[in-house]
Amino acid sequence: MAIRKIRVMGDEVLRKTSKEVKEMTPRLKTLVEDMFDTMYEAMGVGLAAPQVGILKRIVVIDTYEENEKFALVNPVITHVDGEQIGEEGCLSLPGKTAVVKRPDHVICQAYNIDMEPITVEGHGLLARAICHELDHLDGVLYPDVAEEPVRDVTYEDEIEEGE
Ligand code: NI
Repeated sequence: MAIRKIRVMGDEVLRKTSKEVKEMTPRLKTLVEDMFDTMYEAMGVGLAAPQVGILKRIVVIDTYEENEKFALVNPVITHVDGEQIGEEGCLSLPGKTAVVKRPDHVICQAYNIDMEPITVEGHGLLARAICHELDHLDGVLYPDVAEEPVRDVTYEDEIEEGE
């Protein structure tokens, strides 16, 4: 188990396009484990490999709901519908938030860490997390797609989150 350093906005690695994983290696499996550890330590619901400086098409997501924990390798969104408007944050923009419009329902094809094909279907927060994390693989950060300028998370926001 290892916690990796999370890159913050301004680091150019976050703006690059990540490369497809051709084969799973012990090194990449360790990366996935470290990404989960790093995400949990930072109390996030998702983390993409470029956020720890690795330009590979790998994301981890855990919404903390049942059956909503995934490592996705080479993920592709194959279906979207509906719409949700809500506040979004990112571990690469600590203390910041903005309202982002996302589809409310997403179907995603990917591979698991054994390179077996999987299909993940998400509504609500999971759909949002999939869209957000996949954007990272193409160098897109949520301020690029937000409905409003990014702002600081206020004390009131934090109280609300705690409820
Ligand atoms: Ni993010």
